[in-house]
Amino acid sequence: MSVAAVLSGLGAWLPPRVVDNHELSQRLDTSDEWIRARTGIGSRHVADPGTSTVDLAAEAGHRALASAGIESVDALLLATSTPDQPCPASAPQVATKLGLNGIAALDVNAVCSGFVYALATASGLIAADVAQTVMVIGADTFTTLVDPEDRGTVPIFGDGAGAVILRAGEPDELGALGPVDLHSDGELAELLWVAAGGSKQRQSANPSDYFLAMQGTAVFRHACARMAESSRVVLDKAGWMVADVDRFVGHQANIRILQATAKQLGMPADAVVSNIETTGNTSAASIPLALNDACLDGTLMAGHKVLLSAFGAGLTWGSAVLRWPEVVPG
Ligand code: UT7
Repeated sequence: MSVAAVLSGLGAWLPPRVVDNHELSQRLDTSDEWIRARTGIGSRHVADPGTSTVDLAAEAGHRALASAGIESVDALLLATSTPDQPCPASAPQVATKLGLNGIAALDVNAVCSGFVYALATASGLIAADVAQTVMVIGADTFTTLVDPEDRGTVPIFGDGAGAVILRAGEPDELGALGPVDLHSDGELAELLWVAAGGSKQRQSANPSDYFLAMQGTAVFRHACARMAESSRVVLDKAGWMVADVDRFVGHQANIRILQATAKQLGMPADAVVSNIETTGNTSAASIPLALNDACLDGTLMAGHKVLLSAFGAGLTWGSAVLRWPEVVPG
């Protein structure tokens, strides 16, 4: 029988400082009503200066190890697009912070789709017998990328980290990662990007070029269409009907995107899992954070058929399915 990557641990971490919509509306031309109505977000967690993506990732990773009841893994994949430095990757520093110096460690940058991309990568490492156990962390500090004066992006993003442990196991076990579907479209990179500071536009006289620029309405439209399309592909590969899905855990970008995607799929609204009200969009951290919260509050239970779907800058998007295992968040 072929080897599967089986989810056996889960953990998350949010920086303690909470910024609610009322606080934002004191310095930006916005309101709690507008942000809640257009996004479903009420507050978000913000990493204070001195706290980095590596710090958040290590906290989540530590909890995932405790949840799995293990002290070490063979490899660590960090899904992030806000590494501590432009070079090198941050994953080795996370491994060191966890006391796992020496293990294989690399970053996966597929922005908000990074966690789903990293799950697929981890599954490949396990299938190829490169690793028996892999930690996959989604961690981002997008509040460091947004222009503090931009009411179009500041209300949407928050910081955080979520992590899972995958181990080699059997495809028919609860927690075994099922089919995955991944895509990208670099032609549309400009819809959501930081224009300057990389190897192409090394310097810019316009300070806003160093911040995240988003064409929100276009991104919204693509997100709904691509997540629905990709979800249909993995469901088909898994042999599941839409009605079989107990929980839809999509990238938490906007509650309206999650609801519209579910509607396009013909899925009941109560299958949609969302914690966006208290986290905002945490990019690569959003799916594992939503899994962690749903597991803690009993929304997600062992045996549930779970559909994961993400969409983000790049553009990138992808989906995966699994049957939820017996797991207690660390
Ligand atoms: O992680 C993946 C990447 N990100 C996303 O998936 C985000 C996708 N996009 C979205 O979630 C939505 O497009 C937004 C939440 C960003 C914006 O919602 P929208 O319904 O698309 O609003 P809009 O940009 O069309 O703006 C509607 C109005 C505009 O005013 P006018 O032109 O109608 O007078 C905006 O200027 O709302 C105004 N507006 C605001 N008003 C109060 C835009 N931002 C704000 C704000 N507060 N924060």
